[in-house]
Amino acid sequence: MTKTEFDYIAEQYEDMLRQNIGIYGRDTTYYAEHKAIIISQNTSINPIRILEFGCGTGRNIRFLQKYFPEASIVGYDVSLESLAIAKRTNPGVQFVSNDKLEEYANTFDIILIANVFHHIPAQKQISTMQIAKSLLRPDGEMFIVEHNPYNFMTVHAVDTCVFDENAVLIALNAMKDLIRAAGLEILNQGYTLFFPTSIRFLQPVERYLAWLPFGAQYFIRAQRKDS
Ligand SMILES: C[S@@+](CC[C@H](N)C(=O)[O-])C[C@H]1O[C@@H](n2cnc3c(N)ncnc32)[C@H](O)[C@@H]1O
Repeated sequence: MTKTEFDYIAEQYEDMLRQNIGIYGRDTTYYAEHKAIIISQNTSINPIRILEFGCGTGRNIRFLQKYFPEASIVGYDVSLESLAIAKRTNPGVQFVSNDKLEEYANTFDIILIANVFHHIPAQKQISTMQIAKSLLRPDGEMFIVEHNPYNFMTVHAVDTCVFDENAVLIALNAMKDLIRAAGLEILNQGYTLFFPTSIRFLQPVERYLAWLPFGAQYFIRAQRKDS
């Protein structure tokens, strides 16, 4: 099978990430946990099955387990090397590759897609979102998390990151257009990650700042149009 971009750096991914986000603080688990917090603060669902689409080396999985202890978590990625690490570091969790993905059609209550789309070539973004949509239950919720190109610290971090060499950041409004073009409708959205790890205790304040386009990242919550 052809190797994907992240197959080549899967083993170094965690170290590269720690090196890269030094300006925000070196505790990379903060950013992983933050994604599960966003879902738990915004979802209207009590999920039984959660998929992380583009789970990479599985850094977010244990936090999905922590915030949704009743749910079974599944991880999917195009990078088999990343999936191998995800399996090793998350024993007991199910991980699927491309060849088995269709078996999960209409299955998941919640799908998280975190920092994946800026690595997908523009001409493949809508079709990839449609694949993710096909895995969502009709009344399920999709959470997309992306870097905010209007935050200069985020842009600096991406510009100096080895694995972001080919990344093209997507602004929130462009991401909303893409999501709609794939047949989903937007439920709500917000900017996130306003505070570095050293003052992470301020995180609960973030929900009042969600409209401000200065957060390091943003999230969008969407559902299928046919729901
Ligand atoms: C920056 S990593 C993010 C990993 C993880 N979501 C996280 O937050 O730690 C981007 C991941 O997206 C995956 N990816 C890229 N294109 C993809 C696609 N078309 N479908 C699924 N995953 C993809 C890559 O293999 C890589 O593991």
